[in-house]
Amino acid sequence: MAWNRNRLTARLGIEYPIVQGPFSGLSCQRLTAAVSNFGGLGSFGAHGLPPEAIRDVVAEIRGLTARPFAMNLWVSMEDAGARTSDAAAFERSLARLAGHFTSLGASLPGYEPYAPRRFEDQVRVLIDARVPVFSFVFGVPPREILDECRTQGIVTVGTATTPEEASLLEQAGVDAVVASGFEAGGHRGSFLREAEDSLTGTFSLVPRIADRVAIPVIAAGGVADARGVVAALVLGAQAVQMGTVFLSCEESGSSAIHRDALSGDRAGHTALTRVFTGRLARGIHNRLMGELAPKDAELLPYPLQRALTKSLAVPAEAAGRADLMPLWAGQSAPLAACTDVKAFLSRLVEDVTAVAPRRPR
Ligand SMILES: Cc1cc2nc3c(=O)[nH]c(=O)nc-3n(C[C@H](O)[C@H](O)[C@H](O)COP(=O)(O)O)c2cc1C
Repeated sequence: MAWNRNRLTARLGIEYPIVQGPFSGLSCQRLTAAVSNFGGLGSFGAHGLPPEAIRDVVAEIRGLTARPFAMNLWVSMEDAGARTSDAAAFERSLARLAGHFTSLGASLPGYEPYAPRRFEDQVRVLIDARVPVFSFVFGVPPREILDECRTQGIVTVGTATTPEEASLLEQAGVDAVVASGFEAGGHRGSFLREAEDSLTGTFSLVPRIADRVAIPVIAAGGVADARGVVAALVLGAQAVQMGTVFLSCEESGSSAIHRDALSGDRAGHTALTRVFTGRLARGIHNRLMGELAPKDAELLPYPLQRALTKSLAVPAEAAGRADLMPLWAGQSAPLAACTDVKAFLSRLVEDVTAVAPRRPR
């Protein structure tokens, strides 16, 4: 059987077992559609968007591709304490950044009470729009939602950072599971144990999950070229989910300064940190990451810390200051060589085809 065809590609209706990972905050309709149009599965990270905006995004993607695509949400939207965190906590956290706002000539943001957004309202839009694929991180959606997805023919894809999380997703009736290794860029989507205690690498995590569950496994974390794709398939995955490599291409929602960092000298030095958002995530080590790092330093609960650092990232980006903004990236950033999506995917498929072992039917 050809390397690119299996149970998962048939279920998803795609030609190649290549998923472009969703990016909360940095997704772009053009990128999602470009990957889907090629025959992979483009994804869009909609966690940060209100329901009306999600509806628009789905319509826009449908205007750009007739192929299957995935919409992605975070099941858990906030951490303990987000609703009770007060102005005094905000001012204490802001004080540590105040010098940077001043040096950028930006005014200090004011305290605004947290306005929670509901996962249930976001997912309602996806179900009503009958999106082809609903993928998610940070938990397992309630049974009624998964039941409704099944009734509507929406394929569900959960994310696991440990074998135990994969089993829970399978037991809940999820159709496929992303095995997210520690190399991956962005947040660790852990939900059973602390993220710091769920840091297995892709090479170990994928076969352990593939041995444990019967649903198809999608390998994520560190896959950036044909070698990674072939390795993931040999390890038992039926597809790969690549993130960082797609962030580096022109169609992505990342800024020019972020893309420069991904191809720069420091791209190989990433670290996992909570300081940018309050939840553990991987990005290129930079000045802000180091300054906010001391263990005793107070961080606002997710998503308040994310909003705070975002208010600095906006003027930092405008001023070309890559040292003062999150530069999300996985460990394979130095391998990432994608400028144009179609050219990158064509080459990838060619390279994999040249070396992939043929499997018996
Ligand atoms: C900036 C950024 C944002 C991300 N946001 C999400 C998200 O909202 N939902 C999700 O399931 N995965 C998210 N991811 C993970 C990617 O979709 C993908 O699984 C991961 O990047 C794969 O590892 P790699 O970066 O080594 O290729 C994000 C990754 C990055 C770099």
